[in-house]
Amino acid sequence: MAHPLVAIILAAGEGTRMNSKTPKVLHSVGGQPMIDYALENAQAVSPSKIYVVVGAQSQSVAAYLGKRAIPVLQKKRLGTGHAVQQVLPHLKSFKGNVLILYADACLIRPQTLLALRQFHLLQNAAATLLTARVETPFGYGRIVRGGEGEVRKIVEEKDATEEERRINEINAGLYLFKAQALIESLRTLKANNAKKEFYLTDSIHRILADGGKAHALMVPDRTEVLGINNRSQLAQAHRLLNLRRVMEHQRNGVTFLSPKAVEMGARVVIGRDTVVEGNVEIQGATVIGEDCRIESGSHLFSVKTGKGVVIRSSRIVESELGDGCDAGPFAHVRGGCVLDKKVHVGTNAELKNARIGGGSKVGHFSYVGDAKLGRDVNVGAGCVFANFDGKKKHSSLVGDGAFLGSNSTLVAPVKIGARAIVGAGAVVTRDVPAGATVVGIPARPVKKKNS
Ligand code: UD1
Ligand code: CA
Repeated sequence: MAHPLVAIILAAGEGTRMNSKTPKVLHSVGGQPMIDYALENAQAVSPSKIYVVVGAQSQSVAAYLGKRAIPVLQKKRLGTGHAVQQVLPHLKSFKGNVLILYADACLIRPQTLLALRQFHLLQNAAATLLTARVETPFGYGRIVRGGEGEVRKIVEEKDATEEERRINEINAGLYLFKAQALIESLRTLKANNAKKEFYLTDSIHRILADGGKAHALMVPDRTEVLGINNRSQLAQAHRLLNLRRVMEHQRNGVTFLSPKAVEMGARVVIGRDTVVEGNVEIQGATVIGEDCRIESGSHLFSVKTGKGVVIRSSRIVESELGDGCDAGPFAHVRGGCVLDKKVHVGTNAELKNARIGGGSKVGHFSYVGDAKLGRDVNVGAGCVFANFDGKKKHSSLVGDGAFLGSNSTLVAPVKIGARAIVGAGAVVTRDVPAGATVVGIPARPVKKKNS
């Protein structure tokens, strides 16, 4: 490899300002734990290894990481420099570059890492750090530059003078170091600052003092450098991520009526000319077709839809809806449903593990669970598939064109033949032949007069 690189993600901080039982890096932002963003970003520059420094509740973080990274324990949280020192035994003979990321900076884009690497290699720098000009620099390390614009030092909020606090260029917490320069500079680290911590930023000072080259690259989009230290910054990052995803969909031709009031997962795909109203959540591996309408109050998790689907204030989970389907208001399509074209799911209807043929109508207040329905079936209002006998779940089959009257109950397992009619309020306990009409409790065939 031309430029061998390893990545170190710092994730051992206690996240005191979050005031939480959960380690900070496992808090969800934009629909996934914070640490996922650092991992994805690290992967952008193809490191041969990714180390994650873990501390607070290290086991749960390490378990979450699984095989994606090598956890390194920092027993005592003595600062960012001390955290990196824990990885040094793994880097003894390593000659390439070391990328260091803070796990609480979720908004940095992978492209920014590529730019940082390019800059670092081009400058042949011992260290390169990412900075940005922000509106409110409070809490961040400030970048003090000299007359030539060169980086002089990074000074933390608590250690800064009045004048330094007015600097609005801040340290983003993303660095590239030549391995040997990093190892050398970490040897002499001292905790002589307001927080009594070993600061990683002091290794930049060491490199500069030794006459080495340390540069800073400024990222133009200041939203990228937001560090998440408290719940307010968590909310801010969450909104920014959502908005960023919404804007991407807008470029793809999707209309959002209230772009700021949408929860959008990272992996969602939406077709052209679809309209998404406000107060909508779309998550997981959802793929929405063209010309759909997702109305206010809808929640979609890993849903696939065809074209022209309308979803009104409904919750749809792990299911597929064919072209022209409509659901709701207040429909609940639970997992495992496959609806063919133009299926109507009415108000307050609930579906679970159901396959429904094209043109069928599942009316209001009905429940269809563990069933296969043919084409053009009519499920009347309040019709219930009684699929559970108290011990086991049972399946039902309904043939094409069957008509299930209002308030009827199908005691599963049961088969209703094609074009059969079940009278309103009937309780079906036995199979109904094709074309037959059954009524009553328990449902019996209607005898045809004069035959
Ligand atoms: C740090 C930087 C600051 C920068 C800001 C950007 C230092 C000294 N300060 O400040 O210049 O502007 O990030 O967001 O580096 N961590 C450990 N072990 C520790 C301490 C921290 O792994 O002992 C991890 C944390 O989990 C976190 C990251 O390092 O992911 C940064 O630590 P944090 O305490 O949030 O630093 P800031 O005060 O935000
Ligand atoms: Ca931070």
